[in-house]
Amino acid sequence: MAKSFLKELKAARDEWHSMNHPFIDLWEQGKLTKKQTAVYVVQHYHFVTDYLNWLAYLWATCPEKDVKDSILDNLKEEEDPDDRHLEMLIDYAKACGLKRGDVINAKVLPWTEALKDWGWRFIYQNPWPVSCAALMIGLESQPPQIYTRVVPSLHNNYGWDPGDPKIRFFRGHIAADEIHSARGFQMTAKYCNTPELRRAAIEGVRTAARKRWNHMNGLYRFAVHGKSDDTPE
Ligand SMILES: [Fe+2]
Repeated sequence: MAKSFLKELKAARDEWHSMNHPFIDLWEQGKLTKKQTAVYVVQHYHFVTDYLNWLAYLWATCPEKDVKDSILDNLKEEEDPDDRHLEMLIDYAKACGLKRGDVINAKVLPWTEALKDWGWRFIYQNPWPVSCAALMIGLESQPPQIYTRVVPSLHNNYGWDPGDPKIRFFRGHIAADEIHSARGFQMTAKYCNTPELRRAAIEGVRTAARKRWNHMNGLYRFAVHGKSDDTPE
């Protein structure tokens, strides 16, 4: 049962895994300008800002010590005073020609806004083990596979040295999010312990991945076509 549950969670995530998004195809092939790649980072910054608050909400509402400890570890890493992860995103954007204010005060695109709004609603309306699954498997387990495609291109097509601190966000999130997502799978398997919770977790993961995919659609449209909404012409 446990094994097939994990398989179903992965399958639900993989239906709309952002690693397969056309934006990542272009990035991997070096077909985006640096400034276009920065659109990803800017919108990601605004999505992750809420993501961390969702984790903090989960920490506050979950009664299980092992889960709380794991979330707290994750948040401590994210908010590391020596190298806050949100700052890594700003550094990459600056290396692409943007200013700090361009990131922080950027217009959040509609599909990114939708992802942010969905996340709040989801964590308010679902039992915490289901929220754990949607956030940690549906969203946080994706970056290692996404950035495994991006990082070689940063070296080969954009000229950044492998050790350049400006691209540390991508490099760092291959390893870190592997660990976070392994914990996410483990906690979901342990605490989604009824058929109802398991069903809701699988659906939550599917929806989370789809919402993230839509956010990718929006930033693609903006970066490549300069369109900030999808009103038909
Ligand atoms: Fe991070």
